[in-house]
Amino acid sequence: MELKYLGHSCFQIQFNGKTLLFDPFITGNPLAKEVRFDDICPDYILLSHGHGDHVMDAISIASRSKALIISTYEIVSWFEKQGISGIPMNTGGKKQLEFGWVKLVNAIHSSVLPDGTYGANPVGFCIYHENGCFYYAGDTALTMDMQLIPKICPPLDVAILPIGDHFTMGYEDAILAAQFVQCQHVVGCHFNTFPAIEIDNEKVRSAFEQAGMKITIPSINEQYSF
Ligand code: NI
Ligand code: MN
Repeated sequence: MELKYLGHSCFQIQFNGKTLLFDPFITGNPLAKEVRFDDICPDYILLSHGHGDHVMDAISIASRSKALIISTYEIVSWFEKQGISGIPMNTGGKKQLEFGWVKLVNAIHSSVLPDGTYGANPVGFCIYHENGCFYYAGDTALTMDMQLIPKICPPLDVAILPIGDHFTMGYEDAILAAQFVQCQHVVGCHFNTFPAIEIDNEKVRSAFEQAGMKITIPSINEQYSF
């Protein structure tokens, strides 16, 4: 899989021939000014919850790319009212699509859509096919439920976890989360976008190193292969 970081919690991931876009928040993110917004053309847009810093650009990208939204029933219904199609699911469910399986897993956070509409429970995603599996945690606290992931999904190649603290778990908890999901390689997200979630890269790296794990603190517009 090829992963491109577009800032905050937004990743464009090439997986088994399809382009998946997670939690697009680009035009509202001053750190993502260099991202070529008009070039983003996914097949699917996966939304972990309804907060603006995760859904802000979903309508414009979906309208021009015809990408389908994958999220909870409530979030997909909200987009459908605005003419955007999607695949409504809910926590615990999985579905096979052309690129592989999508399974919605628990996340501990809150969720409301930009106009105040109820955004249902937030979710994380496990995405897998025969040759690869990754976990996109979304905005979440550390939760014991993460221990279920190795029991219900293939072994993870990479876990994309929030590390910025304050609104989600911080890097110390992300180390435990990586242990819970049994994944040695973490890609961090949800850091540095706002002052409250600024991180010290060296501190984060050395904490992971001491725990015997690898963390990639991604740079915006950079591409990574797993
Ligand atoms: Ni949030
Ligand atoms: Mn957030």
